[in-house]
Amino acid sequence: MESPRTYTNFIDGAWTESTTRETFENRNPADRDDLVGRFQKSGPEDVNRAVASAKKALPAWRAMPAPRRAEMLYRLGQILMDRKEALARDMTREMGKVLNETRGDVQEAIDTAFYAAGEGRRMFGETVPAELPNKWAMSMRVPVGVCGLITPWNFPMAIPSWKLIPALVCGNTVILKPATDTPVSSVHFVKACEDAGIPAGVVNLVTGTGQAVGSPLMNHPDVALVSFTGSTEVGRSVNRACAESFKRCSLEMGGKNAIIVMDDADLELAVDGCLWGAFGTTGQRCTATSRIIVHKKAMAEFVERFVARTRELRVGSGLDESVQMGPTINESQLKTVESYVEIGLREGAKLANGGHRLTGKGHDKGTFHEPTIFTGVKPAMRLAQEEIFGPVVSVLEAGSADEAIAIANGTIYGLSGAIYTRDVNTAFRAMRDVEAGIFYVNAPTIGAEVQLPFGGVKQTGNGHREAAWTVLDIFTEWKSIYVDFSGSLQRAQIDTERD
Ligand code: UN1
Repeated sequence: MESPRTYTNFIDGAWTESTTRETFENRNPADRDDLVGRFQKSGPEDVNRAVASAKKALPAWRAMPAPRRAEMLYRLGQILMDRKEALARDMTREMGKVLNETRGDVQEAIDTAFYAAGEGRRMFGETVPAELPNKWAMSMRVPVGVCGLITPWNFPMAIPSWKLIPALVCGNTVILKPATDTPVSSVHFVKACEDAGIPAGVVNLVTGTGQAVGSPLMNHPDVALVSFTGSTEVGRSVNRACAESFKRCSLEMGGKNAIIVMDDADLELAVDGCLWGAFGTTGQRCTATSRIIVHKKAMAEFVERFVARTRELRVGSGLDESVQMGPTINESQLKTVESYVEIGLREGAKLANGGHRLTGKGHDKGTFHEPTIFTGVKPAMRLAQEEIFGPVVSVLEAGSADEAIAIANGTIYGLSGAIYTRDVNTAFRAMRDVEAGIFYVNAPTIGAEVQLPFGGVKQTGNGHREAAWTVLDIFTEWKSIYVDFSGSLQRAQIDTERD
């Protein structure tokens, strides 16, 4: 384990201290005695410098042929591969999720690098027929400009990579503002960008709070686009700030994702999926399974098996390879989880497992909570409506597939959904009718791959999709180009008139 050190911002190609001269500490949520590092507690002046540096670097970067930009991003992918184990360990220390999951998080950044870098030689435009003779009509993608990237703590490398890598291949320059709970992964990620040869000023990193860094970033006149992943509440304020100057803005926010378990499902498979969906990453994924809607004929057996398997989960430090579930990210998140347990009990739901903070040996220095299951949950309860972002799952009952789908759709969110059934007709109905941006059949609500669009409907987002080819629509704008090689003035819609 490295001794604690002080990490700096990265502005205009140099690792620099904040103008505030202040730092903040980041501690391991599984062991508060473990100081991961000290980070710059930056302020608006640091944001101004980072934006100025990104603005200065923009003309040369956008003029560079996209295949050359892509070569650097392939190199970035290779560097992340070489450092994967060390990056995963530091990520587990700062964020808490188990090593297998932090390895997966780094892997998702590697996948993104190799997938998105390919766009350097694609980034298709369309050429279409012109209505006039001897005239060419085509379209191309152009970069948006300086981008502010505001990222959450639950996927400390994957989510920054989803934004930063496509932004760069498209020819934009960026300022990354990571969550205050997980700055070290962003420092490592940006260091890998530097080592991959990405020129000074193209990638800038500023650490600090939402108020002192995020807010000036999203209000800065030279920032053309803000890409944000986080809570719906903060997303709303990002949307408002961007509306003022019509900044481009992509938002990826909350979820209340449901798995439907039908009476014809393979129950053991469904239990495996529900365990992974609900308690993987300690329930701290926007795609986490937060509701399980079970057909009434399968309810008793499902609950019995699900509770039994949940009791066997080992909760502890993610650095211990035998542990299956790590801590919650911090004290305030743990308090939120505790408050939802109280809310659930008050609303009359039945606590079938867990419900308490974990203390005592192995748990006394961290923010641990038992994996928690509520049964008898009704669709209108707050427990079934509000995003909790912790290891709490609600089990609801349905009498038919139609009823289950209606319950699944009965929230303001629409990120991911799933169904366990052996009936192909039921599966196809759910695929069509569940309101979600991502849907799984016989698999849980988590586990998206980078080559398909990622995002949700309703109040989960604002219509954008990250990852895949669709991310290009966030980080580029279309330019339509007409080339008239007739040598005479030809008037569209007028000279085309038939006799
Ligand atoms: C998130 O839920 O916050 O689909 C991101 C998944 C991961 C990414 C999740 N690949 O579960």
